[in-house]
Amino acid sequence: MRYIKGAEFQSSRDFDVITMNILIIGSGGREHTILWKMKQSPLVRQIYVAPGNAGMRRDAKCLSIKPDDIDGLLRAAKSHGIDLTVVGPELPLVEGITDRFEAEGLKVFGPRKAAAELEGSKIFAKELMEQSGVPTARFKIFDSIEKAERYIAREKFPLVIKADGLAAGKGVIISKTPDEAKRAVHGAMRERIFGEAGDRIIIEECLSGEEFSVLAFTDGENVLPLASSQDHKRAYDNDEGPNTGGMGAYSPCPLVSDKDIKEAVDRTIKPIVASLKKDGAPYKGLIYAGLMMTQKGPYVLEFNVRFGDPETQSILPRLKNDIVPLMLETIEGKLKTRKLEWDPRFCVSVVMASKGYPGDYRKGFAIRGLELLEDIEDIRVFHAGTSLADNGEFITNGGRVLAVSALGASVEDARDKAYKAIKSIKCDNLFYRKDIGVRALK
Ligand code: AMP
Ligand code: GLY
Repeated sequence: MRYIKGAEFQSSRDFDVITMNILIIGSGGREHTILWKMKQSPLVRQIYVAPGNAGMRRDAKCLSIKPDDIDGLLRAAKSHGIDLTVVGPELPLVEGITDRFEAEGLKVFGPRKAAAELEGSKIFAKELMEQSGVPTARFKIFDSIEKAERYIAREKFPLVIKADGLAAGKGVIISKTPDEAKRAVHGAMRERIFGEAGDRIIIEECLSGEEFSVLAFTDGENVLPLASSQDHKRAYDNDEGPNTGGMGAYSPCPLVSDKDIKEAVDRTIKPIVASLKKDGAPYKGLIYAGLMMTQKGPYVLEFNVRFGDPETQSILPRLKNDIVPLMLETIEGKLKTRKLEWDPRFCVSVVMASKGYPGDYRKGFAIRGLELLEDIEDIRVFHAGTSLADNGEFITNGGRVLAVSALGASVEDARDKAYKAIKSIKCDNLFYRKDIGVRALK
């Protein structure tokens, strides 16, 4: 980083003499959106991504290093003179990438290992919530099948079974009957389908209500919430089919009022940030609360320690601030006076996924028509599982392949634009939900 004058990080104008080399870790739609947003900052000189995807190649240099290869990433950050590293996925954070980079004098946007436990261990998160008075589903922790089964026999249904550790979004099973619950317990603890993530499990009460997400920047003390959003986790329309990483999102979420969001931040994110600070594990980065608006107010379903995917594809297109100063202020503990400005329009983001996702799927199908959407105002296509064929064509290379985000004056308008844009994308092996944002119309 070339500092020529001291900057208070108040606006990007203060940075007009500084330019930075950036490294973004990850390869999904979330990371493409972060790249697109950072690219607009006058503070940025060159962006590298590791490993990135085909859609990110135009705006960044792709390094073929996996997100969990922390040694490789560290070497790359040093050799490319990286001034700021932004970590997309949870795995490197939970494995301590921030601690490793900081020990070498490198700046990272993303919490250290001790704070990343909030996502790395659901038991850690539940216990911290309990100690901090944060509303969350009533729960019990088990390390043996027998005790879990005895508990299941006594409880009312449905019950939610959760593997403690990281399970790529698959470690949560909602069981409607004792048999289902037993199968979930056996899957995690005997068949070990989530590996060591299932050494211990949580069994918790099933909540009902409207689900929404609140993401916030925090510098360890101050909490700066982003606009609300709602993810669509099931694979098919009407919330049917298996859970996925997320099939679409929209922002803001009109089903929850500004007052609800403030209450959620005050009752959930703020107490957690304060507890972590008190425990000597200050959280700096982006904190994500997955919430359920119950009859008794907002309850936490989970915390994530990074931007959501695909929430990010619906939130960042609405953020007017330069994101780079926000990230620097987060790292440097200077968020106190910062205000965020939002495009008042709605953003709807629809994920196009490979047929078969979240189960097995085939790769290598040509994706055509993307060039038709390049210069359309209010439409952005963010890539996830894409790569380039030898002939230069985009081809599918993952489960979630693209996210088509559209801004509109209403949810309806944004939906119309997103689905119209999707019509010009031609690929033989993609499917998408037709009802992203529909709940907001009711
Ligand atoms: P999580 O990975 O904890 O967000 O869980 C994935 C999904 O499972 C959530 O988005 C909810 O739809 C559902 N879920 C998790 N915990 C509960 C709960 N206690 N009650 C009802 N649904 C839940
Ligand atoms: N969209 C849910 C997540 O990012 O975990």
